[in-house]
Amino acid sequence: MSQIITNKAQLVKALNPYRKKGLSIGFVPTMGALHEGHASLMSQAKRETDLTVLSIFVNPRQFNDLLDFEKYPRTLSEDIARAEGERVDIVYLPQYEELFGEDSPASRVNLNGLDEPMEGAFRPGHFRGVIEVVHSLFNHVKPQIAYFGQKDFQQLAVIRAMVSALDLPVFIVSCPTHRETDGLAMSSRNLRLTKRQRQAASGIYKALSIIRDAWQKEPTQDLIHRATEMVRQSHLILEYLVVVNPNTLAPIEPTDDTAVVCIAAYCGEVRLIDNMLLSAD
Ligand code: PAF
Repeated sequence: MSQIITNKAQLVKALNPYRKKGLSIGFVPTMGALHEGHASLMSQAKRETDLTVLSIFVNPRQFNDLLDFEKYPRTLSEDIARAEGERVDIVYLPQYEELFGEDSPASRVNLNGLDEPMEGAFRPGHFRGVIEVVHSLFNHVKPQIAYFGQKDFQQLAVIRAMVSALDLPVFIVSCPTHRETDGLAMSSRNLRLTKRQRQAASGIYKALSIIRDAWQKEPTQDLIHRATEMVRQSHLILEYLVVVNPNTLAPIEPTDDTAVVCIAAYCGEVRLIDNMLLSAD
């Protein structure tokens, strides 16, 4: 059985004996509504570390839209069952007051502009909220390794920048995106799609695949044009579809040998994001 912990003092008490023995802690921070993608993070943490901690906290500070926060799926009892299925040692359900009580260095850390394009441009303040909560959770759990999904590509870049700027003793692991059979990236938000919207949502994967399959065989602008047309035909509303340098998130230069295509689009009122790494092979 996973141990369910709801405050920092209890968590510190539970983790101390493991720390004293020099055992490693693997951490999977989430906002719940767990799916196969999260399960793969938990199982990787389980394989690679001695003790796995999963946190579930729907962080209001990273939602720039109150309605989006209110409608974010909350499935706590199913989440706990899934964590137990993955043999997670501790499920941590932190309290808002304990996470955000103090002035956080994360609110001032220089993220080298990685938080500005794409999600940053469309969701003002989102990444500051992510950084603050992740920094605080790291401070509570003090993991050696933390696991994040590659679906949130920009989030990973921003968290890595925060860890490096604050010199935090935690290794960040990026885990591959899990997809449904039609290619739709697994996301907690998929739970909010109607049957018809769920079918339309696979247009996101189709659009990304157009770019991946012909990358460096056709001009990038032509590919973006074709992919944008796919999004439109799928009745999705595009926010952005850009090909950027995976390290700087700046528009690609002719000299770049790797790239990532990132997309955000609305399916009804549900906002979905995805990305694919591009290589010439
Ligand atoms: O990716 C998420 O689920 C959230 O952004 C995270 C990292 C748990 C912070 O709230």
